[in-house]
Amino acid sequence: MDAAIISATRRLPVDKEVTVHDMAASDGITSLELFNRLSQERPVRLTASDYYDEISAARKGVCWVFYDSDNVVLQVALGAIALRSKRANEFLAWLLSPSFATRTRVSLFHPDVIAKTKSDGRFMATRDDFFSPSPVRYDVVRVMNALGTRNFPRLQIERAVTAVAKTVVDGGLLVFGRSADELDGRSQATIFQRLQNEFIAVADMAGGYELRDFVLKLQADA
Ligand SMILES: C[S@@+](CC[C@H](N)C(=O)[O-])C[C@H]1O[C@@H](n2cnc3c(N)ncnc32)[C@H](O)[C@@H]1O
Repeated sequence: MDAAIISATRRLPVDKEVTVHDMAASDGITSLELFNRLSQERPVRLTASDYYDEISAARKGVCWVFYDSDNVVLQVALGAIALRSKRANEFLAWLLSPSFATRTRVSLFHPDVIAKTKSDGRFMATRDDFFSPSPVRYDVVRVMNALGTRNFPRLQIERAVTAVAKTVVDGGLLVFGRSADELDGRSQATIFQRLQNEFIAVADMAGGYELRDFVLKLQADA
């Protein structure tokens, strides 16, 4: 996948830094790998993002309540004991209602990713939502293993794909796909290039992205 992206970036103007947004990047470790590989080829600036980029924990006595990025209760811990039942956890969290003021936040980015963001201004890790992405535009936008019918209903994927497509510069690349278990983890993906308002496919791997036809009919700025 990285080799195919690097090869496709040769279509971009050679004299400028390539900006990359790796969305739904989970702990960002594959974003860091792409950054390192692409940096050997040309100047690059990469943002790794995920909607669920941190959890937080609030304490009440010996109990801890853990929340996701939407403040949804994930788990209550009573000392070393944790309950399994979702309803029991939600009830206990409600009963405890710990103060959010002293919450401890824990990043879900990989320690190597966090270290890289501190040592290299060209590499960033942040929160973003593919249903409502930040309006910044990039030369390359990648979303792997997140926008498929195994993850969301078709209409929601179309909504996210339409929103993400707007964040690609004219001439830039858009990468969608998944690692297919039934193909020994090989990438089933498509690299699209934006030409003004439309997208063309410049590389297909293992049959391409499952919503390939949808992207090819998209009007990026419609
Ligand atoms: C299976 S992981 C993919 C990780 C990585 N891209 C890869 O290919 O290994 C799917 C990711 O999508 C993220 N995600 C779920 N909803 C999201 C949203 N609305 N916006 C951005 N990321 C989201 C999840 O938090 C999760 O990290």
